[in-house]
Amino acid sequence: MSLTRAAAFAPVNIALTKYWGKRDHEINLPLAPSISITLSDLGTLTVVQPDAHLSANRMLVNEEPIDGKGLVKVGRVMRAVRALAGTDVRAGIRAVNTVPTAQGLASSASAFAALAKAAVTAYGVDVDLATLSGLARTGSGSACRSVHGGWVLWNEGEKADGSDSISEQLLTPEAWPLRVVVAHIGEGPKKISSTEGMKQCEKTSPFFEAWIETCHRDVEDCKVAMINRDVQHLAQVVEGNALAMHATMMATRPGLIYWQPATLGVVHAVRNLRETHGLSCLFTIDAGPSVVVLTEAADLSRVSAAVGAIPGVTRITQTRIGPGAHLVPNG
Ligand code: DP6
Repeated sequence: MSLTRAAAFAPVNIALTKYWGKRDHEINLPLAPSISITLSDLGTLTVVQPDAHLSANRMLVNEEPIDGKGLVKVGRVMRAVRALAGTDVRAGIRAVNTVPTAQGLASSASAFAALAKAAVTAYGVDVDLATLSGLARTGSGSACRSVHGGWVLWNEGEKADGSDSISEQLLTPEAWPLRVVVAHIGEGPKKISSTEGMKQCEKTSPFFEAWIETCHRDVEDCKVAMINRDVQHLAQVVEGNALAMHATMMATRPGLIYWQPATLGVVHAVRNLRETHGLSCLFTIDAGPSVVVLTEAADLSRVSAAVGAIPGVTRITQTRIGPGAHLVPNG
């Protein structure tokens, strides 16, 4: 076994059909499959340095020490990596996000995919992408999709140990190079995390069962839209799935409302651009107020300008569909 310093970058991913409901809360096993795209540029750079002098893992995120629930999740991933490596040595970990933490832009996805990639390398463990996605998943469910680039499917699996709940690439980034506009809305971390929000929906949303059935159907529908490279079809599935998730959230007691007025402003603007002006665009919303818009390259500037002009949109980020987690040799 050789222990060394390793750095990895992982991008965030945006679910087109969402993961919102678990059959196992300990190792993040979902009740339904989900499909996402991996974004380039936005993500997390993580450095793992095994250190025999440490009695516990230490972690800094954007130079701030983390503890509590965050460190528990990190501990799960690191324990699994130590078991594979056959060592007790703990590590010092530093992570820097290029995406705002906990604003509904899946920063936990990039964080745990980067952690898993850097940790297996630092501990000298040789794993395939399926195993890597499983390690990332134990930190945060959606992280298993950031292991791959492009268009990614996370299979829900059936097994209790999660060995069949892994992600796979369906299309490369180049195969359908849609562009992405992130409309940033709202300040500061969200009040209810995805982990807690999901639990609340499972317990108290009257729509929860119907929501999970919808996800199973939407994944199949999304695959058809992808095969045909059909933006109109994709819009029906992706917008419908996001709205169904938010309806499920809003119907819990107490209702979970992640939206701000600007969220709805962007939703209407995107619909208007598509239905009245014939532009190829569609929206999705994760567990936060920000909206992610997909569009074709030819319509990018008009879509960006329209979305950026909505009151309450603090800034926009243009990006593309990109590669998955990778090592950064001198990071
Ligand atoms: C709305 O993966 O952050 O972004 O597994 O509890 O860490 P945990 O939850 P997380 O949930 C992501 C929820 C979502 C939808 C999605 O990415 O599929």
